[in-house]
Amino acid sequence: MQNFEFVTVPHILVERGAAARLGEALRQRYTATRLCVVTDRFLSESGLLAPALCNLADHGWQVTVIDNVQADPPDTVILEAAKRAREASAEVVLGLGGGSSMDVAKLIAVLCASDQPLADMYGVGNVKGPRLPLVLMPTTAGTGSEVTAISIVTTGQTTKAGVVSPVLMADLAVLDAELTVGLPAQATAATGIDAMVHAIEAYTSARLKNPVSDCLAVRALQMLAGNLLTACRDGANLDARSNMLVGAMLAGQAFANAPVAAVHALAYPLGGHFHVAHGLSNALVLDPVLRFNLPAATAQYAELARAVFPEGCPADDASAARHFIEQMGALVSATGIPKTLREVGVEEGHLRMLAADALKQQRLLVNNLRPVTEEDAFEIYKAVF
Ligand SMILES: NC(=O)c1ccc[n+]([C@@H]2O[C@H](COP(=O)([O-])OP(=O)(O)OC[C@H]3O[C@@H](n4cnc5c(N)ncnc54)[C@H](O)[C@@H]3O)[C@@H](O)[C@H]2O)c1
Ligand SMILES: [Fe+2]
Repeated sequence: MQNFEFVTVPHILVERGAAARLGEALRQRYTATRLCVVTDRFLSESGLLAPALCNLADHGWQVTVIDNVQADPPDTVILEAAKRAREASAEVVLGLGGGSSMDVAKLIAVLCASDQPLADMYGVGNVKGPRLPLVLMPTTAGTGSEVTAISIVTTGQTTKAGVVSPVLMADLAVLDAELTVGLPAQATAATGIDAMVHAIEAYTSARLKNPVSDCLAVRALQMLAGNLLTACRDGANLDARSNMLVGAMLAGQAFANAPVAAVHALAYPLGGHFHVAHGLSNALVLDPVLRFNLPAATAQYAELARAVFPEGCPADDASAARHFIEQMGALVSATGIPKTLREVGVEEGHLRMLAADALKQQRLLVNNLRPVTEEDAFEIYKAVF
């Protein structure tokens, strides 16, 4: 076995109704009083935050809500939010929302405590720190950002860049499934498939796959595959919602240590150019990337098939691997989300540009088991056009 390192958030609290007791939970942990809540406008106006804000006030927290986060957050939004947090003299940062809100919260925690410019933080291991205490609470079961050391930023008009550093690992992740109950079916499907892709790509990661990330990825996929359709069809089912939330968190722990690859590399240009939601863009390219990787990943896909889709799984590796791809395809189809690029506004003439852009994601492509050329990326997009 190769040497490996495994890093995760030191404290994870999984508790239904935790939001309504948040002030108390944070009071037990921190003596500070000024808390900055980072979220998006929709969540802030939806009333979802109200129980948490009420309990925070009851326990002596002075709260500043920063709700300018946009999906796929641009760098300008992050700098503006950090300025507001500094003006409020924030002592603790709470990211409460989807991956976008949590990713912004991570960077605010750093930008409030250090002079390092955001522009110097992109890439792996470039954040110097220190940062403010950081608590993350997801409202989607998808990104796993609450347990990753990653923040994804839209730089310029269309490009996404990652800030990856242990400094971004939160101090506390709080998982309250009640926060995810109102997530619409399409968003539940897209974010849930994002989480499944994290698990699959971690399990097949070319460089840093290890026995801990493997265990997490398998358990994550079992929980996500077993609950995705129930969570989509019966959003108020708290058992399904809890399983999705914990599954996404386990997948997050897996890919935080065994990083994602070609599915994410090909998904990012769809988000950058056509504002396709992160989960949906992953779902769109998943099937052709799995098929492309099959020759290099047959053994791993067969292992996943046996663990996640045992019913009707053939005995030999080659057939079991195909069974895995077919079962994943059937699951994605059953959610009813769009299946083709043309449904999300892509035209055939865009495919070469998308392929060229995908190849810029070398940070991710180095983790892919099979090398991807620009022509390969073009063929993958064409297969789902
Ligand atoms: N840091 C990481 O490790 C990591 C991993 C994967 C993706 N990402 C990034 O995360 C972002 C995507 O995050 P996301 O998929 O969670 O979506 P998001 O945070 O962008 O939110 C998408 C939409 O869903 C809404 N929403 C969120 N929770 C809701 C709820 N409970 N009820 C109703 N509506 C709700 C939001 O208001 C928003 O309009 C992208 O920027 C992506 O690049 C980060
Ligand atoms: Fe993702």
